[in-house]
Amino acid sequence: MSENGQTPSHIAIIMDGNGRWARKRGWARIRGHKEGVESVREITRECAKRHVKQLTLYAFSQENWKRPQREVNLLMKLLKDFLIKERDEIEENNIRLTAIGRISGLPEDVQRELAIGIEESKNNTGMILCLALNYGGRSEIVDAAKNIARTIKAGEMDLNEISEETFKKFLYTSEMTDPDLLIRTGGEMRVSNFLLWEISYTELWVTPICWPDFRKRHLEEAIKEYARRERRFGGLRE
Ligand code: FPP
Repeated sequence: MSENGQTPSHIAIIMDGNGRWARKRGWARIRGHKEGVESVREITRECAKRHVKQLTLYAFSQENWKRPQREVNLLMKLLKDFLIKERDEIEENNIRLTAIGRISGLPEDVQRELAIGIEESKNNTGMILCLALNYGGRSEIVDAAKNIARTIKAGEMDLNEISEETFKKFLYTSEMTDPDLLIRTGGEMRVSNFLLWEISYTELWVTPICWPDFRKRHLEEAIKEYARRERRFGGLRE
């Protein structure tokens, strides 16, 4: 078998299992989210150190609004605190912060801190840290379809110009490469409406480890396994 032998350029992560991690210890679910921020810090630092080009984190899905108000509020607070507290670290590590999702649906204070973080880091040339916030994969495709329809209606594009390449330009991820590796913690074998268009040929790696326990050594394991995989993109082995 021909291994690809490489470090993935773009790693995407579904950070699952925060609630279970806390409940197992008899604590409130939100304690799992708090602890999860530590994993975000460690994994971001580690990916930057390994010259991963992009790390995309599923931090808040559109479906997450269905959770109890208290939990949603805490997640928004953790996010806001992260955006403020990590500014120096982002700068020191030459990281460029970006976000995907329906950002205008987030609380205004979170939007403000996010905009500051994006603006301040826009000229950094190291790893891209992309936060998926109020994100849904189907919505992303619907939003792209609407924008294409608008562009055609305005006479700026022809129906025959719609192709996979032009469609991609209307996605939130238009400027990004597709993920090479998708990690899911917490053991569930689902994609959960994450990057539906973009993960067509992405390698999947699921671990039973819950996100608050996910550390550098687990990331190393995932990267090693990725390097062993043979990527054929639907073609045949050479
Ligand atoms: C899923 O765990 C995780 C989330 C819904 C939120 C992830 C958020 C963080 C790790 C903290 C904030 C993020 C940043 C970038 C600072 P779950 O609660 O669904 O776990 P369960 O499946 O065990 O219930």
